[in-house]
Amino acid sequence: MTTPLTLDSAAKNCVWEKPSISRQDRAILNGHRSCIVWFTGLSGSGKSTLARRVEEVLFRKGIRTFVLDGDNLRHGLCSDLGFDAGSRKENIRRVAEVAKMMMESGIVVLTAFISPFAEERRLARTLVNEGDFFEIYCKASLAECEARDVKGFYKKARLGQIKNYTGINSPYEIPDNPDLILDTELEAVDVSVARIVGFLDEMALVCAQARLSTALPWSAQ
Ligand code: ADX
Repeated sequence: MTTPLTLDSAAKNCVWEKPSISRQDRAILNGHRSCIVWFTGLSGSGKSTLARRVEEVLFRKGIRTFVLDGDNLRHGLCSDLGFDAGSRKENIRRVAEVAKMMMESGIVVLTAFISPFAEERRLARTLVNEGDFFEIYCKASLAECEARDVKGFYKKARLGQIKNYTGINSPYEIPDNPDLILDTELEAVDVSVARIVGFLDEMALVCAQARLSTALPWSAQ
């Protein structure tokens, strides 16, 4: 009789294969180190806009980047998931694992997901080492996001046409201790972008002239 495989036992019967090219090697090739910049906030709070704008600035500095966006991933990798609490948990688990792999590949990964639950954001952070993950809270009140209603979903949610809409009939847990808070209600986009880029510079995560510098905070021994 065969024992049915559970997800757990499948993982137990696999052995971790150590990569022959290290993350440090990749950082030297790229001229910058990698990290995860995790944007969280209500729908319409500016996560995607800011992630993309920051990406443009970093790209122009010669830094390898990629944006993982909630709406986009829900068209592919996460297209089987809905918006009940369990599905959101799974959504963030998958995204966090993908972000980690991309970070290992040497990229500065910018993620834009509502990620409404503190527990899942904590999980995403604990998948990687300290100093590899930065949580950025896009702070905007529900009233403001609803007034913006870029996609028209708040209106639909109010009319009962969308279930479990974050802020309306599903909770958003405000981050306790984010690395950066951007008040997108008061601050212009350019100001927020400059603050994020400044923050990343300060963390010595990116070098002004990425390709020319190998003076990395943790360059290979
Ligand atoms: S999360 O909660 O699981 O992190 P995610 O960021 O992937 O959410 O997706 C949010 C996007 O899905 C929103 O920007 C919105 O366009 C769309 N959406 C559709 N239904 C909902 C819903 N019930 N709650 C929130 N967003 C929704």
